[in-house]
Formats: sequence, C-alpha cells, structure tokens
Amino acid sequence: MAKYIVEQSGPLKGEVVISGAKNAVLPLMAAALLAEDECIIRDVPMLRDVTFMKEILMSLGSEVVELEDNVLSITTKDIISTEAKFELVNKMRASILVMGPLLARKGVARIPHPGGCAIGARPIDLHLKGLEALGAVITYKDDYIEAATGSQGLIGDTIYLDFPSVGATENIMMAAVLAEGTTYLENAAEEPEIVDLANFLNKMGAKIKGAGTDTIRIEGVDKLGGAKHTVIPDRIETGTFMLAAAITKGAVHIKNAVPDHVKPIIAKLRECGVRIEVGDDDLIVRADLGPQSSTDIKTLPYPGFPTDIQSPFMAYLTTVEGSSTVIETVFENRFMHVAQLNKMGASIETAGNKAIIRGNARLRGCQVMATDLRAGAALVLAGLVAEGTTEISEVFHIERGYEKFIDKFCGLGAKISRIDD
Ligand code: UD1
Repeated sequence: MAKYIVEQSGPLKGEVVISGAKNAVLPLMAAALLAEDECIIRDVPMLRDVTFMKEILMSLGSEVVELEDNVLSITTKDIISTEAKFELVNKMRASILVMGPLLARKGVARIPHPGGCAIGARPIDLHLKGLEALGAVITYKDDYIEAATGSQGLIGDTIYLDFPSVGATENIMMAAVLAEGTTYLENAAEEPEIVDLANFLNKMGAKIKGAGTDTIRIEGVDKLGGAKHTVIPDRIETGTFMLAAAITKGAVHIKNAVPDHVKPIIAKLRECGVRIEVGDDDLIVRADLGPQSSTDIKTLPYPGFPTDIQSPFMAYLTTVEGSSTVIETVFENRFMHVAQLNKMGASIETAGNKAIIRGNARLRGCQVMATDLRAGAALVLAGLVAEGTTEISEVFHIERGYEKFIDKFCGLGAKISRIDD
C-alpha cells in the first residue's frame, strides 16, 4: 500500500493549474450512456474514480477511448448489460449514477448498493423515490437493487426531494430526459456540477431548464445524440490549494478556477485575514502578509460552505490564532480526520456534528491514516506545517479524487513523496 511522506515545508509559492472536476466528470460519463453516438469529454481529470467509471461503462457496453491526455471519447452503440458489477460499484458510490441512464435507455437497471468514502450511512432512498415517481418499480434481491419500467416507460412527474441530494438530482435528471412528458424536480441540488451535467445533456438534445436553481424542469425527448463538452474546473481542488497557501503562509496563483464556485471559501479565508485577489478565471491567495485568526464554519448544500472542504479547512484552523467552531450538517460522520489531526498535536473536541478547534497548535509529524478522500488532503496540509515528518497511509483515497496531487504540490515547493510500502 502506498504512503505519502510529507516534510515540513516553507511557504508554498508559485502557480498551480486546477484540473477538471471529479464530481462533474463522473455524472457526465454516466450521461454518455444515454446516446448511441460518440460523446467527447475534455479536461477529464485522470483519477482512480474516473478509471472505475470507465470500467463500469465498458462492462455495460460502452467503448471508452482516451483520444489524448485528458480527453475521453465514449460511444455506447448498444447496451450489452443492464447490471453493474459488484466489484466495480463497491469501490465508488458515484457508480449509482448509471442507474438513471440505464433505466431511461433500456427500461431496466440492476445495481448493487454502492460503496465509496465511509463518511456516513449515505443511503440512496432519494434516488429511488425519484425514479419510482417516474414510474420505475424498485425491488431488492440478493443485495442488488433492481429497477424496471415495464412497457409504459418512464413518465414525467413532479418530484420533491426531502434533501437537495447532488447524486439524486443527477440520477433523476438523467432518467427524466428520456421520459414521456415533463418532470419538475423541486428542492433540487444547485451545485455547479448539476449545471455542468444539464449543459451537457442539453447539448445531447435534452430540454432542461432551471439547473442551478432549486427547481429543474425537464421536458422529455425521444432520443439523445452525441455531444462535445469540457468539464468545469474542480472547486474542491481549488479550495484545497487555497488552504495550502493559507496554512503555509504562502502566496499561490491558482489558475483555471471559477471564483464564483468558491465564494464561501474566499469569504471565510478573508475573515481569517488571508488576502485573495479574484480574477475572471484565477485567484491569487496571499497568506504571507500578516497574522491570521479563527472563524466559524457550517457546511451546507451549495451555495453554502462545501462539506468537501470542511476537513482541509479544519486543518488550517488548528494553526491560526483563537478558537473556531465547525458544524457539519451534510454528512453525519465526517469528523474522522479529527482523531488523526489530534494525533499530530491539534486540540479539537467534538460533540455530535460540532467541532471546537483550539488554534495555535504546534503540529508534529507522525504516522496518520487518510480515512477518506478529503480527510487525506487535510492531513497533507497539516503535514506541510508540522515539525518533522508526517507519514500518511491509505493514500489511495487521495488518489481517487486529486489529479497529479504530489506533482502540483511539489511545483509549489512542498516536500512530499510517495513510497510503496
Ligand atoms: C456528492 C459528491 C460529494 C459531496 C456531496 C455533498 C459526487 C461524486 N460526490 O456526493 O463529494 O461531498 O455531494 O456535496 O458528486 N442522502 C440521503 N438519501 C439519498 C441521497 C443522499 O439521505 O438518497 C443524504 C446523504 O446521506 C448525505 C446527504 O444526503 O447525508 C448529501 O448527499 P448527496 O448530496 O447525495 O451526496 P453525493 O451525491 O453522494
């Protein structure tokens, strides 16, 4: 199993270019199942999760070709199987996203309950309720979920999501594009990745309006065709590098970013005393100009503070002046990094979904474990400022979601290497 060795590094300085968004590309790839024609996706981050999705699509009958670096061609002339294999789905929760497209195109889908990061129970009841509202019959058999439409196919309806789930919004949207009639998806997720998916589906011939608001209107069409699309920049990677600059008191120019997508991170870092210059598609983060102090954070669905940046931000808050509070409202078990950060010398107490972080911690390098993808990023950030050497295990989690992670950090002056244990 690979490990990362992180040495205390000085202030990070220089430029970094953000990759395409993991959370956007996975649904885009699933959406390509909806058409017989070729779909070309650019700025695809080459990540383990993308490889998993590629394997799932190929097992269903797609031809997936890497045309050049970061460009994928996906053609699904025929769907040869409507069952996603357990070995593939178990590795990645986002594999549930093939359910909507399979159901829409073939009228049937068989999927094992999905895996992914262990950051909570992560049920899929909202996905299934939405698909049922469109006319699918859901049954459970041998740990598999089976969805079938019968001869009438999917029929548009009004669906209210009890929580604006990102995955459920995407899955239902992908099913509804080929349904008979119009679907109104209310209390829908508003994340930029939803807008990216809707833009791609509309290029394929879908009729979707309102993506990015809490009500999405999807007028069903008979057929979708191929399309070309460029993935939006990854706002979580952007936030991670903003925090890398902040925690090391560095100065980093972040290119290929969408500043609008990281507004809450900009606001909170500014509150702490970090100077941020915002361009059209870039950000300059200056933490080398003065002292920084605490702030309070509450994670929320977009446009609120992103849960995926909660753990990297918490690593940063351990180092600033004063006490901070972090409240996690999106996932019920997303404080696993706390024990690891405390092992490094942080002083964080949790009670339910609230964490209180005492600042000015003197972090020390030691052996820690990446318990999930973003927790792994948080430990790397802590390792950059900890005295001595931090050894991080289970880094496959980090590699699921960050492209060229070590190269990008080392390009800014970080001392990180990867070893095979
Ligand atoms: C996506 C992101 C993930 C991010 C999360 C929230 C991808 C591939 N992953 O995950 O990085 O942390 O959004 O921004 O895009 N829930 C239910 N029932 C459901 C579905 C979800 O109760 O049917 C709950 C979940 O347990 C969780 C909350 O809703 O507590 C948010 O989940 P959701 O928005 O669906 O996240 P994902 O799509 O899994």
